[in-house]
Amino acid sequence: MTGSMAVVMRRQAGLTAKADPKVHTFSTPQVLGQAAAEFVVRLAAQAVAERGRFMVALSGGSLPKLVAPPLVSEPLRSQVDWPAWHVFWADERCVPLDNPDSNYRGAHDYLFNQVDIPAEQIHTLDDSLAPNAAATAYQATLAEVFRPAAWQLPRFDLILLGMGEDGHTASLFPNHPVLAETGHWVAPIFDSPKPPPERITLTLPIINDARHIAFIAAGAGKADVLAQILGSGNRADGLPASRVRPVSGDLHWFIDQAAALKLGI
Ligand code: 6PG
Repeated sequence: MTGSMAVVMRRQAGLTAKADPKVHTFSTPQVLGQAAAEFVVRLAAQAVAERGRFMVALSGGSLPKLVAPPLVSEPLRSQVDWPAWHVFWADERCVPLDNPDSNYRGAHDYLFNQVDIPAEQIHTLDDSLAPNAAATAYQATLAEVFRPAAWQLPRFDLILLGMGEDGHTASLFPNHPVLAETGHWVAPIFDSPKPPPERITLTLPIINDARHIAFIAAGAGKADVLAQILGSGNRADGLPASRVRPVSGDLHWFIDQAAALKLGI
């Protein structure tokens, strides 16, 4: 077994983990959004300088609304090499792409219709497919665009995640069997407790292989679960968001004061 293959296998088994998360707290969701957008611009420039393209995965929920407005406004907008972006989703709902529930649709309305990311580099769910087939097709898209070696995973430059009040992230929900998935990069979900029920999601090994991961979480509704995940005493009990632990990348939390209320910082 080669050294790098051993590392990948240890990563997949969750046997390696790096550094504590870096927690950034901001007075309001707007200030948080601005700082997160600056972070994205910095990582995008670094990825383009090092590898010629920026591979980013987005999430749904409030994230596009928080982060995209400062990204598409000056001074950030013209600092970005938009044609170098490849956009994917950490999770997507199995609904038509023009449905208001679609995560693509949220990103389209706040980001894509304002900047020049080539349409063929926006890697959407195939909304004609049922969840099983859609997950298989999305995994094939990852293979085609990333072209990882046989022993490697597709490695994102940045995965942007949200977190629900129950500690879910992407479409990885508490106590769900997909949390244990190690054989697939993308999994179907048929029973999401957050509607709509049918989704696809990146699995934990892919998420944890990213170079950088950033959670974006705002609002008092997230204070309790954030205290479990980030507070002292490790009370998170395997909640999905607490299982996001990049193996050799770094982990950031961008949170507002309301969400940070019970962290004692
Ligand atoms: C989705 C998600 C999900 C989301 C969280 C947080 O598509 O439902 O990607 O994981 O990010 O539920 O959502 P809010 O930011 O709206 O609280």
